Amino acid sequence: MNVSEGARVDEERTLAPFGRRLARVARSESVGAYRVVTVEDTRGPADPRPGQFYMLAAERGWGGDDGRPYLPRALSFCRAAPLGRDRGASLSFLLDEVGPGTRRLAALEADEGVWLTGPLGVGFRRPSGRALLVGGGIGVAPILCLHDELHVGGARALLGFRSAEHAQAARLFSYATVATDDGSVGRHALVTELLREQLDDDASATVYACGPPVMLEAVRALCGERRVPAQLALESGMACGFGACFGCVVATRHGYLRLCVDGPVLDAAILEVGAGH
Ligand SMILES: Cc1cc2nc3c(=O)[nH]c(=O)nc-3n(C[C@H](O)[C@H](O)[C@H](O)COP(=O)(O)OP(=O)(O)OC[C@H]3O[C@@H](n4cnc5c(N)ncnc54)[C@H](O)[C@@H]3O)c2cc1C
Ligand code: FES
Repeated sequence: MNVSEGARVDEERTLAPFGRRLARVARSESVGAYRVVTVEDTRGPADPRPGQFYMLAAERGWGGDDGRPYLPRALSFCRAAPLGRDRGASLSFLLDEVGPGTRRLAALEADEGVWLTGPLGVGFRRPSGRALLVGGGIGVAPILCLHDELHVGGARALLGFRSAEHAQAARLFSYATVATDDGSVGRHALVTELLREQLDDDASATVYACGPPVMLEAVRALCGERRVPAQLALESGMACGFGACFGCVVATRHGYLRLCVDGPVLDAAILEVGAGH
């Protein structure tokens, strides 16, 4: 396999503390169809970059009779707040229960332990100028912390969800326009239609997006046609999270890149058509 160093150079890569560390669950709450689990990471950095991720595993009850989930699961943090001088950060994770790992993490209760590795990967570069944030489904997680960072500048978030229950996650945002697939809340449209309208009005923006592969491919194409710069937080199955297994490669104009060390945020312009699929 031709694995290129690509656009991201070594100094941009995260030098994470690779040893896993134990964090405590502070609280867990439902937000519509999702769950937000907040942990106190007292031994990690206080300032992870929006778009970076952590590998998580519950201290207990990880690996049932069938052995699953065995490996830790990759999750973007959706909110981070420093705990105080050199005391790490309170990290929140937005969970969509799709399998044994996310189900166990969503069932964590206050005071339970969670193994954390991270922050991993390369996050969104700090925006300058007009920013359009686009999130679809569980992909709103890294968009929320970027929105928190940009809130003073009033960055608009365009959010798309399957249903009204999923759209409750929009409550976490202070300035968002919502679209739903079934029209039950907000506009009856795909979030990419909202993006198209925004770009037709004023294409002088940088787009920051995370969501399902089909949505990211549409964002890549829309921005490519209009020469609008875009940073996309991509997903793939991740076994290790720090570059060892090569399970997370995506095709780019610079060759294959490992999403866990060169991403998960990549410039849309370097992606091959459909690379996120
Ligand atoms: C960088 C990164 C950040 C992520 N952030 C979040 C987050 O904030 N919140 C969240 O809930 N999830 C997030 N995920 C996705 C999560 O890690 C996976 O869905 C994980 O596999 C769930 O584990 P599980 O044991 O619950 O389900 P699994 O048994 O692993 O998978 C259940 C189902 O989901 C499908 N699936 C698994 N992984 C993916 C994937 N990457 N893309 C598409 N389909 C998949 C499987 O084919 C299967 O059908 C993130 C993934 C990455 C790589
Ligand atoms: S998840 Fe192992 S190399 Fe990326």
